[in-house]
Amino acid sequence: MQAIKNQQTLRVRVSEASHPASGVRMLRLQSETGQPLPTFTPGAHIGVSVHLNGRQDWRQYSLIELAYGAGSTAAPQSYLIAIRLDERGRGGSRFMHEALSVGDIIDITAPRNDFPLRDTGKRVFLVAGGIGVTPLATMAAACRFHGREVKMVYAGRDRAGMALIDELHTLLGERLTVHTDKEVGAPIDIQALFDQFDGDDDIHICGPTPLLDAILAEAQRRNWARAKLNFELFAAPAAATADSAFDVVLACGNRTLHVPADKSILDVLVEAGCDPLFDCKRGECGVCATTVIEGEIDHRDYVLTERERATSKVMYPCVSRSKSAVLVLDV
Ligand code: FES
Repeated sequence: MQAIKNQQTLRVRVSEASHPASGVRMLRLQSETGQPLPTFTPGAHIGVSVHLNGRQDWRQYSLIELAYGAGSTAAPQSYLIAIRLDERGRGGSRFMHEALSVGDIIDITAPRNDFPLRDTGKRVFLVAGGIGVTPLATMAAACRFHGREVKMVYAGRDRAGMALIDELHTLLGERLTVHTDKEVGAPIDIQALFDQFDGDDDIHICGPTPLLDAILAEAQRRNWARAKLNFELFAAPAAATADSAFDVVLACGNRTLHVPADKSILDVLVEAGCDPLFDCKRGECGVCATTVIEGEIDHRDYVLTERERATSKVMYPCVSRSKSAVLVLDV
């Protein structure tokens, strides 16, 4: 499987590995040649090549830098990433946890930023869920370095599984609020969270699907424009249990491909030897946009608004599926 077209790839060496929290592995990746690595900005991610059942695939991980400034993100000597083990995932996190050792050489893509820290000068409000803390930790460090007002809410099931809590306490002090379901006895109260936002805040959110969906639903209930929230999903959306199989017809080549319940259209296209563009595989970046000529789209992306979904003929095949037995794609 290819990384996104035209994206530069690099060889790096795993120079350090640690477990900063239960189920989380942190890896430091160093340039193989000793040359500085490409510059990145807060919110950026890299693609990492993983090998699953003899096949190459790519996973995206946000870059962490808590000692922001002094050249730490401009021509850095290494990149730091953290990976939560997903027992029910497709194997990428297991590869990162179990197959990689210190000293291994791996391929990565150069940093890319689809989730930049907005530069409005207003207070930055960061909402992190679980391992979604990684891009936000770098943003928090950047805000502190630049003297920008910042507040962070970091939510998770329990402290033992939440990476970077101590480091963020040191960095942010009272600007950090930690919520754990275990201590409170319930998930974070989304309405109370919204009540903490100032109307002018630059709000950045990164977390799992349930957190993001709950926040987007509350924003809609309050008639907030989607653009007011800058967000990133940290994991591929889980397949719905009721997913079913369907066929896609590729209009150009007049080919029909079967999409089983447990695979995305994008993965089926790649396996069939097509060469689609993609990046996040989470329905966020919009890179895999594909026009549908016929059929009923089951939209599952975070690119289109509800209104756009009602009229759009564009779908994002990394996550979206079909409500009809057949979808005809302009591919
Ligand atoms: S690859 Fe990013 S939206 Fe599909």
